[in-house]
Amino acid sequence: MAGGLLRSNVVASQEVHAKWGGVVPELASRAHQEHIVPVVREALDAAGIAVKDLDAVAFTRGPGLIGALLVGACFARSMAQALRVPLLAVDHVQAHVMAHFIRDGEDRPRPSFPFLNLTVSGGHSQLVLVRSPLDMQVVGRTLDDAAGEAFDKGAKVLGLPYPGGPLVDRNARSGDALRFALPKPAIEGLDLSFSGIKTAFVALVNREELRQPGFKETERADLCASLQHAIIDHLMAKLRRAIRELGVNQVGIAGGVAANSGLRLRLAELGRREGVDVFVPPMAYCTDNAAMIAMAGHHLLEAGQFAPLDVVPVPRTH
Ligand code: KG4
Ligand code: ZN
Repeated sequence: MAGGLLRSNVVASQEVHAKWGGVVPELASRAHQEHIVPVVREALDAAGIAVKDLDAVAFTRGPGLIGALLVGACFARSMAQALRVPLLAVDHVQAHVMAHFIRDGEDRPRPSFPFLNLTVSGGHSQLVLVRSPLDMQVVGRTLDDAAGEAFDKGAKVLGLPYPGGPLVDRNARSGDALRFALPKPAIEGLDLSFSGIKTAFVALVNREELRQPGFKETERADLCASLQHAIIDHLMAKLRRAIRELGVNQVGIAGGVAANSGLRLRLAELGRREGVDVFVPPMAYCTDNAAMIAMAGHHLLEAGQFAPLDVVPVPRTH
């Protein structure tokens, strides 16, 4: 990234997770170790710059898996120290919000401050009031599972490979979303919950599969559509409530689940109904990516918020 403009965005393939049906922490950190040097090299080559041209090094401090975070933190600390440039410790969940502001030469509408953001990923589900790139207030959060987890666990019981979210999305397109009724979480205020939906879905599939073997294959489209509908309904209900309570007129979504086509459609509909502008980052900036970390780092650099060289990763924020 140069002056807030993206120069390259390289993401290593995540096939190790698909092979084992989920994220195995030890394997994830080993994959980070194997990939980090070639990925940095590729990113520099694609940007057409040399290591000595770097003004700063940004890395993800957390939240995330400690083993993987440690690999990135150690690498970034060493690189910043060797190059004598500032080290920028980025918050993973805040960086997802910065996906709206990545400048890559494409012209698209962007939210202005303040706005409300729904950040939904495999590890987090939050409603955030974004006052500036460095001032974000979490106004609601999941009390149990993340939205992405509900997609992934639902996909797993259907026998779909990890991560299942994109596959549920694809299968749901030809399914009947009202075929299987799932619970509507009754959580007060702006907090969220997905474990009830997940548990009911897993129980439904296991019960029916016992009664009629092959059920989960023959009914796959309707099952995926019903699961997706239940998750999105809950997200939309909370988003609507937050829009009204906070009186915002701009709403964004970010994180891996923001890549979901059903969620994107329902968000547009909600925006029209509530009279608010909605913002959705391009797909490539929704799921975990380097560009969003660089964008968040750019603002830390501008604000002079540098991390000490002995900074340690934080696996969770609360
Ligand atoms: O943000 P992300 O790449 O990683 C985390 O920070 O967790 O999000 C990954 C999550 C996974 O749970 C994945 O299944 C979900 O995002 N996801 C989707 C879609 N694409 C990715 N969920 C539903 N529909 C999609 N199209
Ligand atoms: Zn993420």
